[in-house]
Amino acid sequence: MNIKIENQLQDNQRIMIVEDDLDIIPMLSSMLINSGYTVLPYTNGGDALKAIQLESPDLILLDISLPDMDGYQVCMLLKQMNDISDVPVIFMSGMGSVDDKIKGFQAGGVDYITKPFHPEEVQVRIKTHINLSTFKSKIEYKKLIEKQVREVAEAQQATIFALAKLAEQRDEDTGGHLERVCAYCKLLAQQLSMESPYADQISEEFIECIQHASPLHDIGKIAIPDSILLKPGKLSQQEFESMKSHTITGAENMQYVFNKYPENSFIGMGIEIALYHHERWDGNGYPDGLIGRNIPLSARIMAVADCYDALRSDRCYRKGFDHETVKRMLVEEDGTHFDPEIIKAFLIIEDKFCQIMNTDSWIS
Ligand SMILES: [Fe+2]
Repeated sequence: MNIKIENQLQDNQRIMIVEDDLDIIPMLSSMLINSGYTVLPYTNGGDALKAIQLESPDLILLDISLPDMDGYQVCMLLKQMNDISDVPVIFMSGMGSVDDKIKGFQAGGVDYITKPFHPEEVQVRIKTHINLSTFKSKIEYKKLIEKQVREVAEAQQATIFALAKLAEQRDEDTGGHLERVCAYCKLLAQQLSMESPYADQISEEFIECIQHASPLHDIGKIAIPDSILLKPGKLSQQEFESMKSHTITGAENMQYVFNKYPENSFIGMGIEIALYHHERWDGNGYPDGLIGRNIPLSARIMAVADCYDALRSDRCYRKGFDHETVKRMLVEEDGTHFDPEIIKAFLIIEDKFCQIMNTDSWIS
């Protein structure tokens, strides 16, 4: 028997009944149809297995004693089928021993009903398992979507990092600057989120964003000519003006992307950092001469991270300074170049900065 019995008003949930007792099928069918299910009755395991992928039931009521094979075998075979393996199977049987039930669960069943059963009990169990199955599907779907979004975001971040790295290689003679700056920014943001007047502004998303947006700070240098970027001596006033434009160039190019994807907070923060990482707390920075907290927080954090790393690193014209010297230099500029709250945070976690610089422990 493979006639589909449908309730015309509601056919969204489909129950397959595999049962050779011709008294039980009409009784169960009528009860399920009255409850709004579509019923798919089969009287043997072979026919049910052949039809199952086409029928795609939401739940299977499976008798154990069938004429061609037992219900355990049917269940094990359908659990090997793609797209069907997650469909809940409820065994029905006159055999109600503990061993029979254990065998049913081991075969992949989610429940076991002993005959004779009360129709309402069957109905309640079906409803429970369909709800659980739907809930599980929703959770799995959500997890799948989250995984895909994460993968896309990671691929995007990796691509942007590669571009920033490419830009950096034109003038940096020390490796790992971008990686270390990412780590410093993350550490400072984490510290500020725990203990500072900025704690309320720093969410998990902010920390994630600054970590991934910080490598973009100097991306605008890609447009600076070699004659200026690689000049070993002091820059003329005109050359310095040209060099300063890397802030605006970087921000303008990212703004083009941001206009297309205005919800992308990562690019939004990249713009802030690129444009304002050379601003100073006292207003003597560039390009806009912003003062104090008018400078975006992300850029104020970046300024400390960038300067620490630049001063610690070797250059062709000087050796990198040691940690204590750089610390002194940063503290001297507390309240002039740098935001005092960020210097305070730096002093709490300075050992971690030192460790990252000395051991390249940003590699994780
Ligand atoms: Fe810069």
